[in-house]
Amino acid sequence: MFRRTFFLVLLLAGCLPLAEAPNPTASETPTQGLSTLAEPRGLLVGTAVDPDWMDDPAYAALLAREFNLLTPENAMKFEVVHPEPERYDFQAADAVMAFAEAHNMQVRGHTLVWDSQLPEWVLQGDYTPEQWQDILRDHIYTVVGRYRGRILAWDVVNEALNDDGTLQDSFWRRKIGREYIALAFQWARAADPEALLFYNDNGGEGLNAKSQAVYALVQGLLEAGVPLDGVGLQMHTALGSAPTRQDLLANFQRLADLGIQIHITEMDVRLQYSDKPQAEKLRAQAEVYRDVLAACLQVQNCRAFVTWGLSDRYSWIEGFTGLPDQPLLFDRQGQPKPAYQAVREELASP
Ligand code: G3I
Repeated sequence: MFRRTFFLVLLLAGCLPLAEAPNPTASETPTQGLSTLAEPRGLLVGTAVDPDWMDDPAYAALLAREFNLLTPENAMKFEVVHPEPERYDFQAADAVMAFAEAHNMQVRGHTLVWDSQLPEWVLQGDYTPEQWQDILRDHIYTVVGRYRGRILAWDVVNEALNDDGTLQDSFWRRKIGREYIALAFQWARAADPEALLFYNDNGGEGLNAKSQAVYALVQGLLEAGVPLDGVGLQMHTALGSAPTRQDLLANFQRLADLGIQIHITEMDVRLQYSDKPQAEKLRAQAEVYRDVLAACLQVQNCRAFVTWGLSDRYSWIEGFTGLPDQPLLFDRQGQPKPAYQAVREELASP
């Protein structure tokens, strides 16, 4: 009894912290996420996810609070869903779908045709061009068909161009010929007539040889009647090499003028090449996010803004470069960074 009274006195005297007391930094921790601000602007906001992490309640809660669009970072790739010629494995992909559907989120399917993350049976396969067509058609029909009517958009073909704008001497081009791109889109449309079909690439976000080539490729496909609904601009960038807002806007607008959608599909901003103080780097990073989002919001056909990972803890960059980095909107503890605040401000701006 004495102890309870003692604590009550201390509490009233302001000597003990109140659990419910307003936190001076609470304004930085929003109760409404980015998706609430983005929705009235006709924009989806999303992130790449891995089903293994969804079991972490903090990860799941942050995802559900902030985003209304998910992209499986690896769970729908060829080596994961189609590990053997006659065997498909949709466990991981289904888990992403289930999470998204339980939380009323859309899904971008990623990716059907790419050189990376192919299983050994494909890499070592010895087939005729007709057999390769059968293999890719079966893959696309099976994967797209499984989620028919439930996927907003598919990255049908990923990274088919070199930075100089030439067509890559890619695996599927060598096996099937240049027409593999058009065929993949046709098969995807047949498998799910409702899904939006995207060409997705990196490095062609601003104005350069790559973006010129993406534009030409897409324009050519559309002229040939290939069912293509959008371009995914990945937006893996870094301090010091990000495209300007003006160039982004010009590129987004010319793509939109083709009558297709634009999605920012994999944004992250590396800090590791800058030697500025950390606080300055975080502020500069925020401005890169702001520029990309502002350009997107200015072009009506830009309908999705996706970061490549939920927080710095889950980014692919450190594994890839071997160096520490902080490329995303949330820090390793899931706390919002200046980049997050910049994205909020842009979404809230008139
Ligand atoms: O699946 C194995 C697992 O069995 C093993 O235990 C583990 C050990 O390292 O490796 C796992 O594979 C890794 C895989 O991610 C799944 O975690 C690969 O080594 C690793 O190379 C792979 O990296 C992915 C990369 O694509 C492959 O190219 C990244 O997570 C993923 O973020 C990245 O995403 C790509 C987009 O799909 C396309 N655009 C570029 C972007 C960044 O490269």
